[in-house]
Amino acid sequence: MQIKDIYSKIIEHQIEGIMLHEQASKMLDFLGFRGLKRWQEYRYICEGMEMRSTNRYVINHHNMMVSEGKPTDPELIPMSWYSYTRYEVDSRTKQAALKDFFEKLKSWEMETKKLYSDLYKDACNEGYIADALKIKSLIEHVDKELKCVERKYLEYKTVEFDLPYIMFEQCDMHDKYKRKEKEIGIDIN
Ligand SMILES: [Fe+2]
Repeated sequence: MQIKDIYSKIIEHQIEGIMLHEQASKMLDFLGFRGLKRWQEYRYICEGMEMRSTNRYVINHHNMMVSEGKPTDPELIPMSWYSYTRYEVDSRTKQAALKDFFEKLKSWEMETKKLYSDLYKDACNEGYIADALKIKSLIEHVDKELKCVERKYLEYKTVEFDLPYIMFEQCDMHDKYKRKEKEIGIDIN
């Protein structure tokens, strides 16, 4: 595989990941999980920067731009939800939506780790060692993110997605990620 094809696959996947985290932030906000919303918003910001970094790297180290492929909309939010208000969502729907979201998120991050690992091997096999190191840093990041997703998923699974338990931690989680956003110079109101 040529190096530009490797990067094209990475950037296409990064765009899809950014879309997923943006839709997740919107959906979790709608469902009233304000801490989880901030967490996904933080991922959206970090991964947006990561995609910029990939584009910069290709331009500055290969003196070319790569196409972003054809990103697919993750379509995380059911279209029918757009005709409801927050008041119309009952607890059972929230609980089911949250469980479904965590399963999708976990699969997505596992797929990301697998894709980057395969592309890392391709880059090594083709002798693009510096590029492989760049891809290695993406693997390290998604590996950490996946750990965080699985930890939270297992925690919620242990309490059978009990809403009082989940709601209790939303405020602290909200403040934690608000602080983290501020640390990187972002203050969303
Ligand atoms: Fe992610």
